[in-house]
Amino acid sequence: MPIKIPRAHKKSAPKSKPKGRKFAFQTPKGMHDMLPADFLFFDKIEKALKKIVCYYGFERIETPIMEDARIFERGTGMTSEIVQKQMFTVKTRGGEVMALRPEMTPGVLRAYVESGLSHVMSPAKFYYLSPLFRYEQPQHGRFRQFYQLGFEILGSDEAVYDAQTISAVYRTIGELKLKNIMVRVNSIGCKTCRATYVKKLKEYYKNKLSKMCKDCNKRYSENPLRLLDCKEEKCQPFKAQAPQTLDYLCTACKHHFKLVLEYLDEMKIPYLIDSTLVRGLDYYSRTVFEVFIEGLDFALGGGGRYDYLSETLGGPRMAAVGAACGVERIVEAMKLQQIPSLVKNKNRVFLVYMGDQAKKKSLSILENLYDAGICVKEAFSKDSLKSQLRMADREKAELALILGQQEVFEDVIIVRDMQSGTQESVPLRKIVEEVKRRLR
Ligand code: HAM
Repeated sequence: MPIKIPRAHKKSAPKSKPKGRKFAFQTPKGMHDMLPADFLFFDKIEKALKKIVCYYGFERIETPIMEDARIFERGTGMTSEIVQKQMFTVKTRGGEVMALRPEMTPGVLRAYVESGLSHVMSPAKFYYLSPLFRYEQPQHGRFRQFYQLGFEILGSDEAVYDAQTISAVYRTIGELKLKNIMVRVNSIGCKTCRATYVKKLKEYYKNKLSKMCKDCNKRYSENPLRLLDCKEEKCQPFKAQAPQTLDYLCTACKHHFKLVLEYLDEMKIPYLIDSTLVRGLDYYSRTVFEVFIEGLDFALGGGGRYDYLSETLGGPRMAAVGAACGVERIVEAMKLQQIPSLVKNKNRVFLVYMGDQAKKKSLSILENLYDAGICVKEAFSKDSLKSQLRMADREKAELALILGQQEVFEDVIIVRDMQSGTQESVPLRKIVEEVKRRLR
């Protein structure tokens, strides 16, 4: 007896998002799961990134999620917020202090030098798409675990690479069709001219400190450049009148910055010079920049030149420039501008079985279909024909391949057109051919 196909198997898929249930444990504070729907955004961003890095000749790099904490203390900097407040540190059984990486730059530089690649690839262009950890107070666009996509160009002090790094960020975001991208750029000079500037800055702020916030008072003695980074209302009038870095650049830094801007003009990348932009990491020199999207109150990405980082970490003298963007923030921007994610991969064929023998036989049929490059969905955990067909319907499959005991015995399979409901029996040896023909 051939199997009877129930007619009334249509039950539309639930429209609303499934509600989460209570479980004894939740995701750690400030961290989130990445569910299949999130990956439709993530994969789209990765695809855009891969296209751009291919054009620009960046190669992928990954470093361990943990590093010796001192690489960040020395590199990212003791006065940076990241090191002062945001590192997840772990003491190993051997007594070493490791840190879950809060950023990629020092680790990438370490890997480049440690591997010996610095002798054979110079300049080297790396990119990454990696998870990072910062012990932040979680808020909109700010997580304790997040992904960054980033670029590092190591081994050259050429201004053209500053412009190319900005362009790589700009183009990756642009590839996603995000609009209203704003690049803010500044130069904070080299060791020499910055020292003169910082002196001026301190002179300027000296008699204003009593009217300024607690953090600024701390910055004044620890890292005066970051006085310009203050967001406190009461510090804003002082910030607006503060001396500007650009007025104190030495001839070489001035020339470097001029070239960066000329190259950006050449690549038609719109930018705004922001003399208060200093960035919150200690290793920057010369060019610094951040990328924003209109309507979002946080930066999508940021970066700059870091010509002294290698030496600070005990490595060779090596100029470098790089940038990174927060992937979750890019997703936020995509949602804000209603840019669709990738579309869920549709399995156009659904395999339905009836009985143990058919279930077993289905496995070799599936393998044959997979070998022919045909994606097939199944529901082996459901025994009833009705619920399997309902699922095929929900998945919007075009074809259902139905196998019962009788079909196994006769070496055939039923091919059902899910749209019209018509079906026919096809010899098993012809099934790949038949499915391909129908899907064409
Ligand atoms: P950063 O500005 O600290 O720079 O981070 C770059 C981007 O990562 C930010 O603009 C933001 O989009 C994202 N991001 C940072 N913290 C969080 C967070 N808690 N949650 C979500 N997204 C976040 C760096 O990390 C440098 N390593 C960039 C660089 C590369 N400079 C030179 N090379």
